[in-house]
Amino acid sequence: MAGPQKEFEVHPYVQFMADKYSPYKNWIRSEGVPIVTGEFVQDVRTEALGYWQRKDCKGAICTFSDQMVADGYICEIDPGKSTKPQRQLYEEIITVAAGRGATSVWYEGTAKRTFEWERGSTFAIPLNSWHQHFNASGTEPCRYFALTSQPVAFELYRDPEFIYNTNYQFKDRFDPGDAEFFAKEGKYFTEYYGGILHSNFIPDIRKINLVAREKRGKGTRNMYIHMSGGSMLAHVSEFPVGRYKKAHRHGPGAHVFLLDSTGYTLISPPAGSWHQHYNTGNRPCKFVALHANTAVQGEERGVEQIEFEEGDEWMRKMFADECAKNGVKVDM
Ligand SMILES: [Fe+2]
Repeated sequence: MAGPQKEFEVHPYVQFMADKYSPYKNWIRSEGVPIVTGEFVQDVRTEALGYWQRKDCKGAICTFSDQMVADGYICEIDPGKSTKPQRQLYEEIITVAAGRGATSVWYEGTAKRTFEWERGSTFAIPLNSWHQHFNASGTEPCRYFALTSQPVAFELYRDPEFIYNTNYQFKDRFDPGDAEFFAKEGKYFTEYYGGILHSNFIPDIRKINLVAREKRGKGTRNMYIHMSGGSMLAHVSEFPVGRYKKAHRHGPGAHVFLLDSTGYTLISPPAGSWHQHYNTGNRPCKFVALHANTAVQGEERGVEQIEFEEGDEWMRKMFADECAKNGVKVDM
């Protein structure tokens, strides 16, 4: 026998040393745009971006809390420009942060369905549909924040060619023959956790109807949102001046996008553990959360939350101090 034989060669898909070999992490490193880690960005509208060749726009990838379930990205389109058409085997929800434009959606060989959006518009890209975004302004850039289930797709299939170049049409989610798919009026249902809006296009997320959800705190209002046959959801939550919501926990993948007022959030590590949202501003605090289905609270078992009277004293003091800075009286 000539020379020593290798007894076993590790297959490249064997998972170990995830930071080094994670297919998703390697992919985002290869995209050539800024990668934002940690837990948050201060302002989606001013975050530094880089050129993103795949989409032919500016962008940054937000990989928060190392949860590998749902990650975000920021996209900016220059005045008068559009993104390169793309399709993908993962879900995506978009909220527009600045500017106005339009999006076309289609499956291979079908008519394009186009709708116009502006700041506050929220919609989901139907799974694996071709889509292209246009900036409608010739002078102002436009920007949106998107949440995708891309980490799961990459960790599972590990082949960008498959993820970005498969022709399957998920017609149970998006019927390309339906000319009104993105134009229909949203429908509110009350059976699901108090309220859920089914809509494939929401013109302004700040203006949807909310329903009382007092178990999360007195005066708290809420609405879940389901779009484009996705398994990912969104919800809008609003809570009053001088108050905070009860600390709670649920599965990973929720991304909170502040719409009104000012405040802060306390998160206890590790990610996905207890967290609490505080309104310290002069107006009701409203946010939209885009999230993976894993991040929905298991309400049939009861929301996992901590009652106000069980919270720590230093938290109450911190809240009072932060409110005082804005001349707001605590109203718990
Ligand atoms: Fe939460």
